Amino acid sequence: MTMILNNKRILLGVSGSIASYKSLDLTSKLVQSGAIVDVIMTEAACKFITPLSFQSISRRPVFTNLWDSNHSDIGHIEMANSTDLVVIAPATANVIAKLAHGLADDLLTTTMLATKAKVIVAPAMDGNMYYHPSVQENINKLVKMGIIIVGPNEGRLASGLVSKGRLAEPYEILGHIRAALGKEGDLKGKKIVVTAGGTQEPIDPVRIISNHSSGKMGYALAEVARDRGAEVILVTAATALPIPVSMEIVPVKTAADMQIAVEQSLKNAHALIMAAAIGDFRPNIESNQKIKSDKEHLNLSLTKNPDILGTLKGSFIKVGFAAETQSLETNARKKMLEKDLDFIVANNVIEIDSGFGSDTNRVVILDKKGDISALPTLPKEEVAERILDRIVEIIQ
Ligand code: CTP
Repeated sequence: MTMILNNKRILLGVSGSIASYKSLDLTSKLVQSGAIVDVIMTEAACKFITPLSFQSISRRPVFTNLWDSNHSDIGHIEMANSTDLVVIAPATANVIAKLAHGLADDLLTTTMLATKAKVIVAPAMDGNMYYHPSVQENINKLVKMGIIIVGPNEGRLASGLVSKGRLAEPYEILGHIRAALGKEGDLKGKKIVVTAGGTQEPIDPVRIISNHSSGKMGYALAEVARDRGAEVILVTAATALPIPVSMEIVPVKTAADMQIAVEQSLKNAHALIMAAAIGDFRPNIESNQKIKSDKEHLNLSLTKNPDILGTLKGSFIKVGFAAETQSLETNARKKMLEKDLDFIVANNVIEIDSGFGSDTNRVVILDKKGDISALPTLPKEEVAERILDRIVEIIQ
């Protein structure tokens, strides 16, 4: 479940494109996040994929025809009024043209004229079609109407052409839906810098010293802060995770890169949340040639990296993480005091429900006033919500 999507009514419009199948994945992601998804398919969409596929995932009736009796029980006006957000994915050149000119000749376009909800449109078409001046003009018209356009992405299209025209990936569309729904959230107007991932210190052009951080906790924090209306800068070391949308992303490799990026990002920030696992040491020398394996022993000499959190000063809220394997509270409290933090989030990284790469975390939050709260095992997104609740409390 995702807090911002839980119990939200999402109206998904699907028009006729070879990319229509990707909307099934989007429907699944929305439903898993707690949303109630009503699907309207155009006649052309039904040529590519069946209403039954959407119905099986949304567990709700799927609407295809303005005149069918199934739909008349609910009515397009009722559907248009009750939705929190409308997303059209994929949106063909034809549907975009109809929206731009106010045409209403089927259930989807009629409903679109009737809704006052936020609208996201994710175009998908062949590259030459996408770049046609009339399509570009129609898309610009939609932007002027306040419609959010997501994609299309560059890549290989069904025609074999490599161009812009691919439907944005479902996780990207999902991110834009979350951001649009959360725009007026309790972190609106607040700037939050989040760090994530594990830094990499090069030994030679091939090898690195790194750690097991997956970046999941930091990414969850960045996404949930965005969902609550914050302006987010995510300073991210290496992870295998998809890049979140609707925030500034600053990719870094080493601890030194991260220090520079964090310092630059902090201008006018209200909070810094350091979820990154930063390498404490780096090789004294980075060999510019690959070190050969023709020896029995290799001694690496290491130098201490700067303590980023410990050396930063400013009026922003400072939140640290303590990755421990023993004496959790004692070690975490010591770090909180030494690094002058507002609060610290401690977890035992050798436990199965809170270790590296896990989707859940079991944390203890210690604050500078001496409060300690031990949270149960929760999905990382829910831990992120609790951490951001604390930040909202301090800001207020
Ligand atoms: N941190 C940092 N700069 C470093 C190392 C850590 O800013 N060079 C931050 C981490 O992002 C985290 C907090 O400090 O928020 C504590 O990190 P952790 O690695 O648990 O603690 P260390 O201070 O490195 O202590 P130790 O490794 O000895 O446990």
